[in-house]
Amino acid sequence: MMLNGALFLLACAAARAAASAGDGPLLNGNFEYSPNRSQMNGTRVTGASAIPYWKVTGFVEYIESGARQGGMVLTVPEGRHAVQLGAGSSIRQQLSVTRGKYYSITFSAARTCAQSERLKVSVVPGDDDVADELPIQTVYTSSGWDSYSWAFKAKQGVVSFIIHHGDDHEEDPACGPIVDCVAMRALNPPRATHNNMLVNGDFEEGPYITPGSPWGVLVPPMDEDDTSPLPGWMVMSYSKVVKYIDSAHFRVPHGARAVELVAGVEVALVQEVATVPGSSCRLQFSVGDAANGCVASPMRVQVATARGSKSVPYNSKGTGGYARDALDFTPDGNSTRVVFYSAGYHTTSDGSGTLCGPVVDDVSLVCVSRPHARRLLR
Ligand SMILES: *[C@@H]1O[C@H](CO)[C@@H](O)[C@H](O)[C@H]1NC(C)=O
Ligand SMILES: *[C@@H]1O[C@H](CO)[C@@H](O)[C@H](O)[C@H]1NC(C)=O
Ligand SMILES: *[C@@H]1O[C@H](CO)[C@@H](O)[C@H](O)[C@H]1NC(C)=O
Repeated sequence: MMLNGALFLLACAAARAAASAGDGPLLNGNFEYSPNRSQMNGTRVTGASAIPYWKVTGFVEYIESGARQGGMVLTVPEGRHAVQLGAGSSIRQQLSVTRGKYYSITFSAARTCAQSERLKVSVVPGDDDVADELPIQTVYTSSGWDSYSWAFKAKQGVVSFIIHHGDDHEEDPACGPIVDCVAMRALNPPRATHNNMLVNGDFEEGPYITPGSPWGVLVPPMDEDDTSPLPGWMVMSYSKVVKYIDSAHFRVPHGARAVELVAGVEVALVQEVATVPGSSCRLQFSVGDAANGCVASPMRVQVATARGSKSVPYNSKGTGGYARDALDFTPDGNSTRVVFYSAGYHTTSDGSGTLCGPVVDDVSLVCVSRPHARRLLR
């Protein structure tokens, strides 16, 4: 825990410098600027604007690392302070953005006592002003802290970003999730080209990863019309995620970013692409491991379209590496869904129980019309 704390302190400090460039923590996004004691009762924040740059509603506590709560020592591995969101409470901050642009938000959260918690994130004004729910259920790191991502399209130049803890059942307010290190990154979604009909097939564009953060960023499940923090891609699941990883802390097959499929068959990474019925298509991709001790012989990635699927084995020693593979198919419709998922469940070999899985990267799709294909073959 101490080690993780030290790591994250560095991570937050490093990130602050990046904020001036537009990408990085929100103002007081790591909650290190404390509320005035006169606007607190014990740990509870009583003034709506007590935490600099934030507005709070409901039962919000300002958490200090090592503090005691209900006989339990609170560990705040990220920095020295964080906020705990009681049932029905929220925190919000106004953001200056560019209308029409896409933004991703990254923040860290830890569960406290409840088995399953959901945080609602939204911007106002936003699409229908309906909040998206992020399941804070499965823990994906050994520290108990996970970084989550989310994204939105800016409808105005100034929006309010809100994290709200669902007003579920009669929960003990001391049991809400703890939130820390809230950051933002403008997304610049790449376009499909004739060399690759998929958008962002190399996963180089995605949510903010705090420099120095060793855990990657979780991309939660989304609805089809949601804005994805991983442009071009949808994460389809009831409550599970994929992990977005960087080459600074993991081995990635190509470029600086990739996706680790950490939740077996319960989550699929999906992209829908316009295709010409009857054309000849080749989907190429890399399958590997992140050098995070995920040992399995083999791991299997399932690759599927409506017109064909393939189980791709990869023997992982957990030390990094990858193999290229391909799937040929002939689309029968104007659009084709390309789907990747892990056929198995894996945990790292260090005994921490950390979920892990195969890495997918460098995905490309090229289709040629049949007459053209015949000409190429002659
Ligand atoms: C805290 O609040 C008290 C009472 O409102 C005020 O006198 C004091 O100046 C404030 N301190 C800071 C550091 O803002
Ligand atoms: C602080 O909270 C305690 C316990 O909930 C309550 O009894 C007390 O009246 C509160 N103090 C103030 C100044 O609101
Ligand atoms: C494909 O698009 C064409 C032209 O837009 C349309 O006529 C046809 O019905 C579509 N086919 C399918 C299977 O959606």
